[in-house]
Amino acid sequence: MERLIFATGNEGKMREIRDILADTYPEILSMKEAGIRTDIMEDGKTYEENAMIKARAVAEAAPGELVLADDSGLEIDYLGKEPGIYSARYLGEDTSYRVKNADLIRRLEGVPDEQRTARFVCAIAAVLPDGRELAVRATIEGRIDYEEKGNNGFGYDPIFYVPEFGKTTAELTEEEKNLVSHRGKALRLMKEELKKL
Ligand code: IMP
Repeated sequence: MERLIFATGNEGKMREIRDILADTYPEILSMKEAGIRTDIMEDGKTYEENAMIKARAVAEAAPGELVLADDSGLEIDYLGKEPGIYSARYLGEDTSYRVKNADLIRRLEGVPDEQRTARFVCAIAAVLPDGRELAVRATIEGRIDYEEKGNNGFGYDPIFYVPEFGKTTAELTEEEKNLVSHRGKALRLMKEELKKL
């Protein structure tokens, strides 16, 4: 298997995916590049379920291909693991991350460091050309900062502080983030699992 389709339309994710998987899969296509357009209802209850829903939908449109998909989110312990699987939809899909991040910081006002723990979670699902399925999950632990910092990355990166670096993930370079991030780790794990098959 030298080729795979990744079920995402997000260019930022595609860059990360290519960086990590290119040594094993010379040809990595986004859904758009593979000419696949399907409306996918992400109505699963876990990251793994949502990732598998996306992978299966694309696999159905591209029989015989290796298809991967991911689902990710931010869990804040103090907020009962919110926004979790609803991270993209938090306060509405079209609301800016300036507003979403400011809102989360406000909800943690007065909460001390040790109770500001949070993690990014990423599940990756695969449907193989013969129909077999597998899923992996990885996380990165951190805490919610007191203000937005950094201009790299996307989404909740400016408020996600990583103690080992003393920085938010929006202050890390793309290479640094790939090495430690939930998505980077999950992609490497998936690559190993696929090699075993
Ligand atoms: P999905 O995985 O595309 O369904 O969306 C996950 C949502 O979680 C994104 O839209 C972001 O809000 C958030 N998220 C996931 N991974 C990251 C990350 O690496 N940095 C910042 N936000 C993230």
